Amino acid sequence: MTALDLNRIRAEFPALAGDTVFLDNAGGSQVLKRVADRVSDYLLSSSVQLGASYAASVTAGEKVLAARRAVATLINAPYDEEVVMGGATTALMFVLTQALRLGPDPQIRAGDEIIVTETDHEANIGGWMRLREAGAVVKLWPVNRETLALDLADLDLLLSPRTKWVALTWASNILGTVNPVAEVARRVHAVGGRVCVDAVAYAPHRLVDVQASGADVVVFSFYKVFGPHYAVMWVQRELLLQLPSLNHYFIGADVLPYKLQPGNVNYELSYGCIGIADYLVDTGSALGSDGTPRQRMQAAFDAFEAHENALAEQLLAYLRSKPGVRLIGRPAADDAQRVPTISFVPAAVAPEAVVRHLDAFGIGIRWGDFYAKRLIEKLNLHERGGVVRVSIAHYNTPAEIDRLITHLDEVLP
Ligand SMILES: Cc1ncc(COP(=O)(O)O)c(C=O)c1O
Repeated sequence: MTALDLNRIRAEFPALAGDTVFLDNAGGSQVLKRVADRVSDYLLSSSVQLGASYAASVTAGEKVLAARRAVATLINAPYDEEVVMGGATTALMFVLTQALRLGPDPQIRAGDEIIVTETDHEANIGGWMRLREAGAVVKLWPVNRETLALDLADLDLLLSPRTKWVALTWASNILGTVNPVAEVARRVHAVGGRVCVDAVAYAPHRLVDVQASGADVVVFSFYKVFGPHYAVMWVQRELLLQLPSLNHYFIGADVLPYKLQPGNVNYELSYGCIGIADYLVDTGSALGSDGTPRQRMQAAFDAFEAHENALAEQLLAYLRSKPGVRLIGRPAADDAQRVPTISFVPAAVAPEAVVRHLDAFGIGIRWGDFYAKRLIEKLNLHERGGVVRVSIAHYNTPAEIDRLITHLDEVLP
């Protein structure tokens, strides 16, 4: 496989020209210039309301539809109308879960069972928990405290003919573990349930394929995938048609996806997202791929994965060599079940002290529970302030990881 041309890659992100080492990418990634340019272009040339007959409005409408098309390609959605856009993953999860309890024929009724995991970000738990107000029974899929995995055998114990939904993360934003989503979907569908996947921590590292995922809903945020503060929720068409409209009374349940986008999408941010898809296609082409747009995107992600694994292993090897450090997640990057989001706790130093030490050298990492509060509490890590998290992106360099390690070594026992 051809290696990534890091100079070419980094030139796409103006912020990387500065001195900061960005290693909090799972919190928010840097933004592509071509995304910012598109946002600016839209605002300065197309800020009109959509749906009118004059030319500027028609052009603006075409731009927004082109954005939905680009996002559909990015996630391999069979139909553009399955692409629901909104402000954030958390907001879209509330839209979905509330839609499930509303309307003339609510999907969730008293006694229905929902399974959420102990490793998820609260975005894919809280909305589901609120369905208890509609009489749902919410069960917790526990993390295995030894391996830090979600065991399929534990899922099997929780599944029942009453299971309506299982909500899980594709990759944990603390552990970095990639979950076997397609296998989970197979088991859940076998009992007649549906699956909602949080792909926020996964999408910056692997090409999302909603069809191959087997899930019914897949959600993630573009500000972690080199774009603006914005998010997408893919909802499988038949399910989407069954959901009620959360929009005005005259926007019917057959108006996809507008019925779940009250107030409409953000036009300029949607348009900006085309830049993410273009960047991935162009990166694949530069790597020698001459296939379909998605094949080129896959080539880009294959190269990202190889590069990220090398960087992750550089850091993990160092952390493994420190007897006073406990890794919270899989210890090696040499398998396919990990993204380069690396968390750890030092025995003798507070996570906050480690991070503040690195602040002084312009290295951006952070500590905390990262809103995966239930996981941090289950592992008894909350009293010391959670974990230190280093989250790598494909634009990071071996020299940056070296610099991180040099300064970590000044504080880690
Ligand atoms: C795994 C995961 N899910 C969901 C979210 C929430 O995303 P948003 O800020 O778009 O609501 C985050 C944010 O950190 C996350 O890491």
